[in-house]
Amino acid sequence: MPLAQINGHPILLAPSILSADFARLGEDARAAEAAGADWLQIDVMDGMFVPNISVGLPVVAALRRAVGLTLDCHLMIVRPERYVADFVKAGANHITVHVEATTHLHRAIQQIKELGATAGVALNPATPLGAIEEILSYVDLVLIMGVDPGFGGQEYIPTTTEKIARLRRLLDERGHGQVQIQIDGGVKAGNLAKIVGAGATNIVAGSAIYNARQTVAEAIGALREALG
Ligand code: DX5
Repeated sequence: MPLAQINGHPILLAPSILSADFARLGEDARAAEAAGADWLQIDVMDGMFVPNISVGLPVVAALRRAVGLTLDCHLMIVRPERYVADFVKAGANHITVHVEATTHLHRAIQQIKELGATAGVALNPATPLGAIEEILSYVDLVLIMGVDPGFGGQEYIPTTTEKIARLRRLLDERGHGQVQIQIDGGVKAGNLAKIVGAGATNIVAGSAIYNARQTVAEAIGALREALG
């Protein structure tokens, strides 16, 4: 159930399991589904593209069995094109690759779509929007990192909001208003309205949902409330 409907766009919620309790991952995923999440983001890290190693194909397959949500695989790995077929086979419905991680972005996006999944491109905080202008006609989603990728619980980089607003304008000007803008990293109930106001339509949240202070349902309720 979308967090809200704004300017005709449903605002989707994609909890990131990176902050969940890996000892009870299935339960934490089902808690998000029960609380009305739309997608579930799985952060795949290879220790090369980012300074951390997280999860891979067996965890995607296990989560596929655990929930009916849209499985969103955010690949923070070098040369992601080597593995997209395996992630779709494991149960991924959506795959996002980083523009900084592949030499042949157009080919990688085509490959994902030919496999029947939806495709996204991600930008690190210092990567300009110009790096993805040529691929906007081919993607279903653009992921804007609000933090340097690799870890949950980091502070949101404030200039990200203006970057989202510029992307929204660029997409609308180019007639790509249907392309989702996903924000990932540092999202909290306190900054969500500003981020959505700038044009984000797909919200990744990790530590704001999986934390010791609230239940998953309470945390998602607080995000819903933040959008009024
Ligand atoms: C970081 C990941 C994010 C992270 C978000 O590289 O891509 O998905 O888990 O966590 P929070 O919401 O805590 O910043």
